[in-house]
Parts: sequence; C-alpha cells; structure tokens
Amino acid sequence: MTSPAKRPLGLLAATLALATLATSGAFADSAGATFSQGEKFTEESGEALYANVCQACHMDQGQGAVGAGHYPALAKNENLEAAGYPIYILLHGQKGMPPVGQMMSDEQVAAVVNYVRTHFGNNYTDKVTAKDVAETR
Ligand code: HEC
Repeated sequence: MTSPAKRPLGLLAATLALATLATSGAFADSAGATFSQGEKFTEESGEALYANVCQACHMDQGQGAVGAGHYPALAKNENLEAAGYPIYILLHGQKGMPPVGQMMSDEQVAAVVNYVRTHFGNNYTDKVTAKDVAETR
C-alpha cells in the first residue's frame, strides 16, 4: 500500500533536483558571459574594463598566452608607445583580436588604453582622451 504513494514523491524529488541544476547552470552562464550582457560594457575604470574584457585573452598580468591561439603580451610592450595603435586595435580588431571597443564608449576605450599603457611594466604617461578615440572610430 505504501509504494504507490512513494513513487510520485520520488519523481517530484527528481524534478526538483533537475530544476535546481538548471537554475545554477543559468547563473554560471550569466556570471561568465561578459559579451552577452548587452551591447555595451558597463565597467567604467580602466582597471575594471581590463579585468572583465581583456584579461581573458591577455591574462591577469598582461603576460599574454600561447596555446590554442597566440595572445600577445601587453606587459612591457613597446607597441603601446604610440597611443593611436592600441586605440585602433580596440576599435577595429586585428586577426584574433575582436573589436571590443565597439562595445565601449569613447571614455571607456580611453580609460582601458590609459590603463594598459601605465601598467604591467609600461610607463607611457601621456594620456589619451575620449576625443582621441572619437577621431579614430
Ligand atoms: C578574444 C581575445 C581577446 C580579447 C578579449 C582582447 N584581445 Fe587584444 N589581442 C588578441 C589577439 C589574438 C591579438 C593579436 C592580434 C594579431 O594577431 O595581430 C591581440 C592584440 C592586441 C594588441 C596589439 C599587441 C601588439 O603588440 O601588437 C593590443 C594593444 C591589445 N590586443 C589590447 C587589448 C585590450 C586593451 C583588450 C581589452 C580592452 C583586449 N586586447 C582584448 C586577443 C584579444
């Protein structure tokens, strides 16, 4: 007499377990997928933009990575001396580098360019402005 009553409960438990799994999966997705949060990045400081946008490819110390692809180091990178170069690459992309600047305001592009040009062993202190970015778009 007890077994028919238990079976639906077991099914309910299984359904709940599945629902929990599905929910935690969805959370994991939305936390990691910076690119799908909308058309624009919301971070404003160069540091936060670097951490959320660039770091996945160029690594936390700007050291770059070689593996499935080649991600050049931004650390101690003389190519950053000419400020127009990183601005251009952010706005237009280059081979494996997506044009992430298209998803940023001029201010955001300037902030993250200024950040990488003054961190990771780079010491190019002439700041770029939102106007410089606007003129490169
Ligand atoms: C999806 C991976 C990816 C992301 C995200 C990314 N980059 Fe890149 N980046 C690359 C690759 C790959 C290259 C090399 C492109 C090539 O082959 O010319 C590159 C090249 C560059 C270069 C040129 C380096 C040189 O020495 O010529 C700069 C500067 C740069 N990235 C800055 C940034 C900044 C700043 C961000 C964040 C706002 C960023 N990248 C985000 C993959 C990425």
